[in-house]
Amino acid sequence: MVKIAPSILSADFSRLGEALQSIEAAGADIVHLDVMDGHFVPNLTFGPPVIRALRACTNLPFDVHLMMDDPASLLDAFLDAGANSITLHIEACPQPQALLARLRQAGVGAALSIKPSTPAEVLYPFLDQLSMVLVMTVEPGFGGQALIADTLEKVSAIRGECERRGLKTDIEVDGGINTETAAAAIRHGANILVAGSAVFGAKDMAAAIAKLRG
Ligand code: DX5
Ligand code: ZN
Repeated sequence: MVKIAPSILSADFSRLGEALQSIEAAGADIVHLDVMDGHFVPNLTFGPPVIRALRACTNLPFDVHLMMDDPASLLDAFLDAGANSITLHIEACPQPQALLARLRQAGVGAALSIKPSTPAEVLYPFLDQLSMVLVMTVEPGFGGQALIADTLEKVSAIRGECERRGLKTDIEVDGGINTETAAAAIRHGANILVAGSAVFGAKDMAAAIAKLRG
């Protein structure tokens, strides 16, 4: 089944607790939390204290997307804050084995992400250690951008490689997912769709989430 992970980057930051309750009531499966450090990406959002505070506001799983240099420095803090899965960017962390092992040992999902210009194959040495791959379908840093169509070819390639290895790895897409682009992402093999503006910008969040799911 396709899962929908609204990104709170597009929520009203003065009312994040209510935003989580609204998406839970609207049928979201996962909460996507975009951590940006102002270095790896040219934008700055929030870190462990905010995630910890939000943890009490919903029962939905927390999918923490770390767009930061040196993720090792704060990994334990994100685990303590209540992350259920943590995604590292391979560009920020080219030798991720020890951190992936730490995540597995902590009992949380271990994921790697690639930016639009990073080839899918760089993930293949680590594929067997991952619960999820996140294929960025826009340049990370900002919500509300248009999906870069050729990134979906990487989704197909990774899905094919997982199937060849008998892996049921989740493949998440993030950026520019809306009711026009969701079906193509699913067709290429994605099974978790992140959506920021398409959910928080919708008049009827429940209808938007149902439509994205296809
Ligand atoms: C971008 C973030 C995304 C972003 C998606 O760097 O990783 O999660 O919030 O926003 P939309 O769905 O509006 O493209
Ligand atoms: Zn994200």
